[in-house]
Amino acid sequence: MSGNPYQNDRGNKDRSITNPHGAGTLRPSPGTGEGVHSDNAFLIGDTMTGGYGSGGPDILHECTIAVNPGEIAVIVGPNGAGKSTAMKAVFGMLNVRKGSVRLDGKDITDLSPQDRVAAGMGFVPQTSNIFTSMTVEENLEMGAFIRTDDFRQTMEQVYELFPILREKRKQAAGELSGGQRQQVAVGRALMTQPKVLMLDEPTAGVSPIVMDELFDRIIEVSRTGIPILMVEQNARQALEIADRGYVLVQGRNAYTGTGKELLEDPEVRKSFLGG
Ligand SMILES: Nc1ncnc2c1ncn2[C@@H]1O[C@H](COP(=O)(O)OP(=O)(O)OP(=O)(O)O)[C@@H](O)[C@H]1O
Ligand SMILES: [Mg+2]
Repeated sequence: MSGNPYQNDRGNKDRSITNPHGAGTLRPSPGTGEGVHSDNAFLIGDTMTGGYGSGGPDILHECTIAVNPGEIAVIVGPNGAGKSTAMKAVFGMLNVRKGSVRLDGKDITDLSPQDRVAAGMGFVPQTSNIFTSMTVEENLEMGAFIRTDDFRQTMEQVYELFPILREKRKQAAGELSGGQRQQVAVGRALMTQPKVLMLDEPTAGVSPIVMDELFDRIIEVSRTGIPILMVEQNARQALEIADRGYVLVQGRNAYTGTGKELLEDPEVRKSFLGG
């Protein structure tokens, strides 16, 4: 067994593809995600080009984002850069016209979002990520919708991770604070025992203290063996915990490196981190 309480034996256990030192050397990658250290990544949206609907303009331009086992990968960039669009593309909610999405070596570009959940992907979208009129517990039960086995143990693990949710389990999720709602959303995604977790702005609209707390919980989840690919508005704080960081601008990869490399890069600091 993996020691990962959220999984059975579904995760990727091949440590040989893990890079314990993060994602490598900082490189400006203007214009293209081609070759953005994508080899063998556990989950990768590889040089994705695409937009909304069948006739909408391309929002992503050869954009690459990826995450490996043991890693937290963070996507930052200005509003409208295409961060959420890139996440939706990886989750199958967007028409990827060029490029591909691969999970654990398999091409999943043509799978529906539902099938991607079944394949092991958990996704917490930026908006509408909980059922507000349902109780906390019902939200978690909804999260387990694809499971036919007994999910009570997983629910117990979610309550251990987020004790406040146990206290509020009979309360409507819509009555919770912003930070607590985000815990419900993350908990819901964990209920399928995902092999990889994708979070779009998990700390949106919460205070700095709650943000720190949520980051601690996310690190805790990642330590159980679930790779995490997340978008963050709090770029500096997020890059501090990132093994791998992407700066996206206008749907393209602008900079890629370890979180540390990006934090230390003068250009990245000046343009994206407020100096
Ligand atoms: N459902 C949609 N239909 C059409 N265009 C969309 C849709 N959602 C987003 N867009 C467009 O795609 C572009 C990128 O938006 P996206 O939401 O991916 O940016 P973002 O980097 O996540 O921004 P933010 O930091 O504000 O969350 C924007 O120009 C936006 O108007
Ligand atoms: Mg967004």
